[in-house]
Amino acid sequence: MREAKNIMRSGIMLAGQVGRRGWRAAACWMMIMTASLPAGADVDHGREVAATHCTRCHVVGDINPYGGIESTPSFIGMKYLADWERRFEEFYVLPPHPALVRISEVSADRSEERPAFVHEIVLTLEDVDAILDFVRTLPSPAR
Ligand code: HEC
Repeated sequence: MREAKNIMRSGIMLAGQVGRRGWRAAACWMMIMTASLPAGADVDHGREVAATHCTRCHVVGDINPYGGIESTPSFIGMKYLADWERRFEEFYVLPPHPALVRISEVSADRSEERPAFVHEIVLTLEDVDAILDFVRTLPSPAR
């Protein structure tokens, strides 16, 4: 299943190179692949990753109800936003995360000439998917 998601991602990148027709084919392919993925398989792993790395700033469900940093939105609070799932898929490119989160398959090791000013969080795309699966299980305030 995880392989399938990574294959989907390579499909998207490949389609970017082969143009429009390829893109459409990849989109079809993605729908087929997504439909066959079992839901919620990575919830426990996602909970663990979020507890380890995200609670430093965010309130993450019942893990740290009184923790986090005041100016940082809570995970449950973010579920008010219609596009919260997309935000969790891409959070590592949305500020402030690029300064502290690195996805091992996506970006190279940080150069020694560019030291991190905060403790760097290194995740895999699998971890990102698992976090999303976990956040899906949190109560939604909007519905
Ligand atoms: C150093 C503190 C810090 C850490 C650690 C952190 N975040 Fe965030 N995150 C923030 C702040 C601050 C915002 C609000 C940004 C804004 O308002 O533009 C945010 C916003 C978000 C958003 C919404 C993004 C948007 O722009 O809509 C998501 C999703 C998110 N974080 C997920 C995560 C996940 C998952 C982790 C753990 C892997 C994590 N964050 C770790 C500080 C942090």
